[in-house]
Amino acid sequence: MDKELSRSFILFGGDYNPDQWDDETIDQDIAVFKKTRINTVTLPVFSWAKLEPSEGVYEFEWLDHILDKLDEAGLSYFLATPTSAQPSWLSKKYPEVLPVDIAGRKRTHGMRVFFCINSNKFRERAAAIATKMAERYKDRPGLIGWHVANEYGTYCYCDNCQNKFRSWLKNRYKTLDELNTRWHTCFWGKTLYDFDEVMVPSELNDDYRFNPAVQLDYMRFITDSTIECYENEARILKAATPKLPVFTNISGFIKKLDQSKMVPCMDTAGWDNYPWPTDERSFPAMKHDIMRALKGGESYYVMEQSPNQQNWQPYNKLKRPGEVRRLAYQGLAHGSDSSLYFQMRQSVAGQEKFHGAVISHSGRTDTRIIREFTELGKELEKLGDSFICGKANSDIGIMFDWNNWWALELCSGPTKDMDYLREVHNFYKTFYYGNYSVDFIIQETDLSKYKVIVAPMLYMMKEGVAEKIKNFVENGGTLVATYMTGYADENDRCIFGAYPGPLRDVFGIWVEETDALFADEVNHIHENGSDRTFECRFLCDLLHTTTAEVKAVYEDDFYKGMPAVTVNSYGKGKAYYIATAVERAYLDKLYCEILKESEVSPVMDTQGEIEVTARNRDGERIVFFINHGKEDGAIDTRGDKYQSLLTDEIIEGTRKIPAGDVMVLKKL
Ligand code: GLA
Ligand code: ZN
Repeated sequence: MDKELSRSFILFGGDYNPDQWDDETIDQDIAVFKKTRINTVTLPVFSWAKLEPSEGVYEFEWLDHILDKLDEAGLSYFLATPTSAQPSWLSKKYPEVLPVDIAGRKRTHGMRVFFCINSNKFRERAAAIATKMAERYKDRPGLIGWHVANEYGTYCYCDNCQNKFRSWLKNRYKTLDELNTRWHTCFWGKTLYDFDEVMVPSELNDDYRFNPAVQLDYMRFITDSTIECYENEARILKAATPKLPVFTNISGFIKKLDQSKMVPCMDTAGWDNYPWPTDERSFPAMKHDIMRALKGGESYYVMEQSPNQQNWQPYNKLKRPGEVRRLAYQGLAHGSDSSLYFQMRQSVAGQEKFHGAVISHSGRTDTRIIREFTELGKELEKLGDSFICGKANSDIGIMFDWNNWWALELCSGPTKDMDYLREVHNFYKTFYYGNYSVDFIIQETDLSKYKVIVAPMLYMMKEGVAEKIKNFVENGGTLVATYMTGYADENDRCIFGAYPGPLRDVFGIWVEETDALFADEVNHIHENGSDRTFECRFLCDLLHTTTAEVKAVYEDDFYKGMPAVTVNSYGKGKAYYIATAVERAYLDKLYCEILKESEVSPVMDTQGEIEVTARNRDGERIVFFINHGKEDGAIDTRGDKYQSLLTDEIIEGTRKIPAGDVMVLKKL
């Protein structure tokens, strides 16, 4: 987060929908906010229908009244443009605002985030209400930023979108020849003779064996259209309040919009974190790290988490005692400057009436959740601005790319179990559990500040990326890559001359074939020079070395004895190739060797299930410890001296961290 735009306190609070409540309830809620030290709310996210009951007729008085109360109480707020839920009169009067789904069905009014992102009428009315809000509220004392709409993500297949898609393609590829070449339309006789023959890829023209090249461009187009739709409102808000951040909240970890394109158009990343009870703790940690990457490593906002259970999971588990606190600190530890929640008060009816909230249907304050929030609120207040805008400063980068994600999972073959996020997570875990700080890097990022780069399944080689990677290794960097690397260009056209395509020389290998293992099938690799074997699954590349040295070979099947892990010296650096999804025990061992050689150290040594990260700012270093385990753990400061920001205690040497507890230390 840009220092100029950020606050000097941790934002604590979240979504508030007071248009559902009477005055008395709002006063009670504000009293709860004060008691729990909630300092920030987001509103009125879905209130377009109430703010503009008919076209051009605005009723802002009710909102003025609530904002007066919030201002009087000294609370901060993000004002949300309410444009993710258009009023029914808008859909009725201008049916063009309603989207068409992939089956070609024109949808009717009902759901939220249910509009055509390319509808001019939608944009016109959205800009109009954004203008009114900006004019009316820009000087409000409590206003700390603008939250545009809510969780974009509608794919539309209407005629308007189709026409715009054609223009988008014309603009991107200029000529039909170029488009035919990029889409390789000669396959299955799909040659296009005019741009107006391009169809949006829907069920009307396909049976789910879509040409990935067309799909990829359509997904890029929808991302660009969503950016336009966002900017249509954002530019108005920015012009009215240049010193306040403008952004939207990203739905969970959304695949269908390229966040690495969207977020750079915003002042900060803001995302909604709803981990599943079954998620390994490293999974939300990884998502936080990816969110931090979207604005080049700057801090970001967690805009929503659930204060307790969700309602939309099959089994909506309660948050266990202490879990909200650990989740809050996990966000802060990975780079968030906020801990915001959906929602402040549980709605009385509707789809989300059973979703957890700070204030439940009981309306009581003697509840477990309010007790936990009150404790957390006190702590966050004490932490003040000690790490706001602090950065991770990692030596390790993991490449992550939305286009690559799409392309891999659009592939028909080599396996139906293709899951980019799962594979990236597998390669992330060793660092995470080893207490190493990791940055995620998008393909466009400058690589030179990293010592080690891991690029799991870098299937799509966008223009210039291979050269960047080569330079990185040539100049002394260490690269780790895997199966499914270097296959295709940005239009999903395979690269001739054997995989990993333009990186063959860097790895000193060539891949001849790739075997797909059944879901329950296991092969093994045998480490050269030791008697250890490790399990491997998923995919097995059958490869040959040219200049690389073999570190491990397959144990089973007809490719027994062929290389499974190789290393190649290239320039001043080294490139490791892992040809199969090998179990973590092996990665732990291999990474350990690589990190030692590259002189990368963990943030700190710990015992037990403790998560450790650091945030650095102006020469100061704050280290976060979260004990996720049921047993006590310990840390060892190895001669350094720290001060606890929560208890003021000075800590040197070893120190216990009780089961489930958290510590935030400042290096002295
Ligand atoms: C999303 C939305 C919220 C709410 C929550 C429920 O993140 O932004 O409006 O629906 O989910 O978990
Ligand atoms: Zn549309």
